[in-house]
Amino acid sequence: MSKSQLIVLGVVALAFVGLGTKAWAQNATAKNAVDPKSKEVVQKPKILIAYYSYSGNTRAVAEEIQKATGGDLFEIVPARAYSSDYKTVVAEAKEEIQSKKWPALKNNVANIADYDLVFIGAPNWWSTIAPPVTTFLKSHDLAGKKVAPFITHGSGGVARTVDDIKSLTPKSTALDAFAAPGKEVKKSLNKVHTWLRKIGVSQ
Ligand SMILES: Cc1cc2nc3c(=O)[nH]c(=O)nc-3n(C[C@H](O)[C@H](O)[C@H](O)COP(=O)(O)O)c2cc1C
Repeated sequence: MSKSQLIVLGVVALAFVGLGTKAWAQNATAKNAVDPKSKEVVQKPKILIAYYSYSGNTRAVAEEIQKATGGDLFEIVPARAYSSDYKTVVAEAKEEIQSKKWPALKNNVANIADYDLVFIGAPNWWSTIAPPVTTFLKSHDLAGKKVAPFITHGSGGVARTVDDIKSLTPKSTALDAFAAPGKEVKKSLNKVHTWLRKIGVSQ
């Protein structure tokens, strides 16, 4: 083969390699991400953010996590709505928690097996997680997945909420939890981002 033929062959080969790399890179952006430090292509975890919220505080955190991670947002909704009257809902919650009669849910996550990382959001109700979250954890298998709890609360703080999520997900890897007073959470959503960086979910 002459020198000029070799050069043409080299150029054609390089063009093919280039095209191949481009196609692969485009494909990579769909399912994977490039690690900014190592520049290696790493598989992005599939993320679910499942939460229950009665008055909107836990929802605000859930939506912030969704914006930061691009994960799938799932609102846990009880089949029978709680009373809109505060005193009545407090009594309804007490009854469910004391009798361990966990409420039926309106909807479930059919493809739970697809997720690698599941954020679980709950308000503190009577020092534990709101009952719809208990139902969710009892009816979805999170074994082998990473679980990141996020809690909003009143003056009672985190109480048993995070421990209760851990006991209901014994075969999952528990990541550090996020907790914030419900009254302040919407004004301090930047703390959500600090937490996401700490647990290695965002940069
Ligand atoms: C039925 C009920 C029970 C509650 N029990 C507690 C509690 O035991 N301790 C506490 O710190 N806050 C308690 N709270 C306050 C909520 O945890 C707090 O307002 C939370 O941010 C509400 O989240 P949400 O807006 O997502 O529903 C309770 C609220 C309700 C409605």
